Amino acid sequence: MARITAGVCTSHVPAIGAAVDLGKTEEDYWKPVFAGYEFSKAWIAEEKPDVIFLVYNDHASALDLRMVPTFAIGCADEFAPADEGWGARPVPAVKGCPDLAWHVAQSVIQDDFDLTIVNDMAVDHGLTVPLSLMFGQPEEWPCLVIPFAVNVVVYPPPSGQRCYNLGKAIRKAVDSFDREFNVQIWGTGGMSHQLQGKRAGLINQEFDNRFLERLVDDAEGLANMAPVEYLREAGSEGIELVMWLVARGALNADARELHRFYHVPASNTAVGHVIYENTV
Ligand code: DHB
Ligand code: FE
Repeated sequence: MARITAGVCTSHVPAIGAAVDLGKTEEDYWKPVFAGYEFSKAWIAEEKPDVIFLVYNDHASALDLRMVPTFAIGCADEFAPADEGWGARPVPAVKGCPDLAWHVAQSVIQDDFDLTIVNDMAVDHGLTVPLSLMFGQPEEWPCLVIPFAVNVVVYPPPSGQRCYNLGKAIRKAVDSFDREFNVQIWGTGGMSHQLQGKRAGLINQEFDNRFLERLVDDAEGLANMAPVEYLREAGSEGIELVMWLVARGALNADARELHRFYHVPASNTAVGHVIYENTV
């Protein structure tokens, strides 16, 4: 059977992707950011996941106001990197896993979650920057990736509770997939940041660190936090953190934290990154 063996959560700042693509990772500004992923790169090279179920948000790259699915699952064979205004990132196309994606879709939809099935979708920095942070610059991404997009850009976003419960439904679906797949679930975005308006530049280190604490041993309680609280405490883009709750919901309550990293700032954002090993 397929198994979710680990969860990885990380920020997905576009400037991090540019630093990788333009060879700036050794510069003074960027070095401490990439240092936080050294452990992770060595770890994942050993873990060799077959499939990553990658929860991220599109930033009006493939989905815009014409169509705003709250949850969208990518069921295609391949997903090209999006052109976000400066040409597509020079990273490999993502190879999907249609068999598992369709299986998750049927299981989760019939467990009462409304997913939009997407078969043609370019993937933006929300998905490609986490891959770069974890895998560097390979010729091909070393595993299959199922893109799972959550709307946190157009009001209203889904609640943390719904995201957490969705994670549980995804877990159930993966557990019932009849292939020996080593699956990881990733949650991306966050931590605190606000890109516009009077509070642009907001970072709340206290909130972020408390979030990291509670995600380990009080995920159920953390899931109760209302969307407006993210907005108030973590800024308008801090709501991206609900995607970490999808990943957390797919893991056991006693999943073990293997790695934690927090750094301020990268571009306008507080960077957070955790790895959880699932208990089986
Ligand atoms: C930044 C962060 C994001 O999460 C994003 O989607 C876009 C920009 C930033 O810090 O610049
Ligand atoms: Fe973002």
